[in-house]
Amino acid sequence: MYQTFFKLFFSRMDPEQAHHLASRWIRRAARIPVLRTFVAAALAPRYRELRTEAFGLRMHGPFGLAAGFDKNAVAIDGMAMLGFDHVEIGTVTGEPQPGNPKKRLFRLVDDRALINRMGFNNDGSLAVAARLASRTPVFRTVVGVNIGKTKVVPEEEAVGDYVKSAERLAPHADYLVVNVSSPNTPGLRDLQAVDHLRPLLSAVREAADRAVTARRVPLLVKIAPDLADEDVDAVADLAVELGLDGIIATNTTIAREGLGLTSSPVLVRETGGLSGAPLKARSLEVLRRLYARVGDRITLVGVGGVETAEDAWERILAGATLVQGYSAFIYEGPFYARDLHKGLAARLRQSPYATLADAVGADVRKPR
Ligand SMILES: Cc1cc2nc3c(=O)[nH]c(=O)nc-3n(C[C@H](O)[C@H](O)[C@H](O)COP(=O)(O)O)c2cc1C
Repeated sequence: MYQTFFKLFFSRMDPEQAHHLASRWIRRAARIPVLRTFVAAALAPRYRELRTEAFGLRMHGPFGLAAGFDKNAVAIDGMAMLGFDHVEIGTVTGEPQPGNPKKRLFRLVDDRALINRMGFNNDGSLAVAARLASRTPVFRTVVGVNIGKTKVVPEEEAVGDYVKSAERLAPHADYLVVNVSSPNTPGLRDLQAVDHLRPLLSAVREAADRAVTARRVPLLVKIAPDLADEDVDAVADLAVELGLDGIIATNTTIAREGLGLTSSPVLVRETGGLSGAPLKARSLEVLRRLYARVGDRITLVGVGGVETAEDAWERILAGATLVQGYSAFIYEGPFYARDLHKGLAARLRQSPYATLADAVGADVRKPR
């Protein structure tokens, strides 16, 4: 049904306008008590066996909304109503910024993919912190806050910009993510080099600890699928060294070759990060590599081309404790999270594993 609606309605609209419209509908529905109770009952059923714990946080299940959909923390309850077990808001930057000129979001429908060069359009850390502070949650969902660099801030002042965001946002975050992997802010991905990443992550850790003394806010880093394998290993080792809580693998890719893309070359050539189905194989590969390196010492979050329950199950077996999705939500619609949970619970029941936690990394631990 959603597929027909998508074809007749959303696919004819500009993708960014369609996004804003859908987000508005979701937010409105979540504000009407009877409607949200009904929608949540239909789309967010709870499965006891999927209960998950990650970096000390308890969740109804392992599947959440990836960063970028709700950059400004306006739709958290709406997305929880649709069955996402955690919602990662952002990327939020130190200062507000408009992002790149439009048009900056493209649908590659035949490839079930998106290309975006949004460039962190967001209200900035002060406004988002105020919004989170004044929020009265309807659904108890875990809220991750993803932070990135303000475009006009020079690279040598990047740490200060992240620290500003961390100080303002950590008090409202169940977990904090340092995003150094979006391709649409010049120089951002260079921060993934260990020499840059070490001082950055240390400073954000200290900032979060200064801002929040009553608990330890878990800190994660989000990496690109375009890192060379040795660099993935280097980030993994650094994460262990610094006592980081998690690594999110992966962000969008700047690659286009070898992904089997069938959309028009004009679309494929659009600058920006590619997400969705074509990203699946590389994101999974990076995740496996990370798990082989860090094992259970660090919580891994698998994201990139997760479309089905089978994809999510594959990520869990490859080492992910949490799984996220974004692009497939655009193509699959409001039943995306529900179908994924249902399928995941069925897979777990049919598996040899007693709990989801037992299944984490089982494929990588298996002797080959
Ligand atoms: C339109 C769009 C905007 C995004 N914005 C952000 C962002 O602000 N910060 C971030 O860390 N990731 C962002 N992402 C990346 C997603 O969080 C995710 O890592 C990536 O899309 C791969 O997952 P998917 O294949 O399920 O979409 C964005 C993705 C899309 C499609």
